[in-house]
Amino acid sequence: MKKDLIDILDLTNNEIDEMINVAFDIVENPQNYYEKCKNKKMAILFYEPSTRTRLSFESAMLDLGGNVLGFSEAGSSSVSKGESVADTAKTLECFTDIITMRHPKEGAPFVASQNVNIPVINAGDGSHNHPTQTLTDLFTIKREKGRLDNLTIACCGDLKFGRTVHSLISAMSRYENIKFILISPNELKIPEHIRSEILLKNNIEFIETASLEKYISEIDILYMTRVQRERFFNEEEYIRLKDSYILTPDKLITAKKDLSILHPLPRVNEISVEIDKDSRAAYFRQAKNGKFIRMALILKLLGL
Ligand code: CP
Repeated sequence: MKKDLIDILDLTNNEIDEMINVAFDIVENPQNYYEKCKNKKMAILFYEPSTRTRLSFESAMLDLGGNVLGFSEAGSSSVSKGESVADTAKTLECFTDIITMRHPKEGAPFVASQNVNIPVINAGDGSHNHPTQTLTDLFTIKREKGRLDNLTIACCGDLKFGRTVHSLISAMSRYENIKFILISPNELKIPEHIRSEILLKNNIEFIETASLEKYISEIDILYMTRVQRERFFNEEEYIRLKDSYILTPDKLITAKKDLSILHPLPRVNEISVEIDKDSRAAYFRQAKNGKFIRMALILKLLGL
C-alpha cells in the first residue's frame, strides 16, 4: 500500500527516528545516495510561494539522482483554467512517481492523495500543517541538542496561523518530558483544536503567555515565527501585530548558553540580523538540514 505524508502524525516516532538516522548517514556518506532515485521523477506542485521547501525538495531529488517537474506558480498551469486539485494530481500521476504539493487551502494535499496511487507529500496546506518542516525541525533539534526528549520548547509569534508550530507541537507531544511555553499576543494564540486535542489530551505541560522576557532563562529551544500576513483578513490588524516580538541580543542576556534558536524562515522582522552571529542561532543550519531529511523522506515513501 502506498504511504503519504499529510500530517506529521501519519508517521510513528520509530519511523521518524529511522528517517533521522538515514539523514545523519546522508550527511556523512552522500555518495552512497547519488543514484538511489535514478529514473524516478517527483512532481512539485506549488500553489503558494516558497523558497526553502520547494528548492530543498528539488535539491533533495537531484542529489538522489532523480528528476523533478512541476510548477511554482499555479497561474502558469491549467489550474488557471479551473482544473481541480484531484484532476491535476491524476494528470501528474501519469508522468511521475511521487507528488509534493503546497496549497493555500487546508486539506488540498489530502484530496490529491485520495485520488492517486502514488505517494503525496503535504508541503504546507493553509494554516493547517507543514509536516516536512517538522521533520526538518526534529532533525535540527536532534543535531543541535542530541535528543528529542527532556526539552522546554518556546514557540513565539503567530501561533494561530503558523502551520509549522501546529505540526511541531503535534510531533513533540509524543516525546518524553516536553514542556511548551507558548508566547503570542492574545489574538494569535494556538487554535483550540491544538490546545484540546494535542496538549490537554496528552497531558503535556504548557504555559500560554504574552511575555518572552519572563521565561527566556528556562528555554532549551526558542522557535520564532513570523506573523503570517497572507492569512489575515484585515491589513490594519496585521500591521498592529506584526512587530509583537523582535528578538534582539539584549533579550538573550539571561538565556541558556546552549539555547538553540530556530525559525522555519522566511524571517521578516522578528529576529534581528545581529542575532545571526550568535552561535545559538540555528535557523540557517535548520534550512540546510531540510534537504537531508527530505532525501530520507523521499527514500522512505518510494520504498527505496
Ligand atoms: N519554511 C518554509 O516553509 O519556507 P518556504 O515558505 O520558503 O518554503
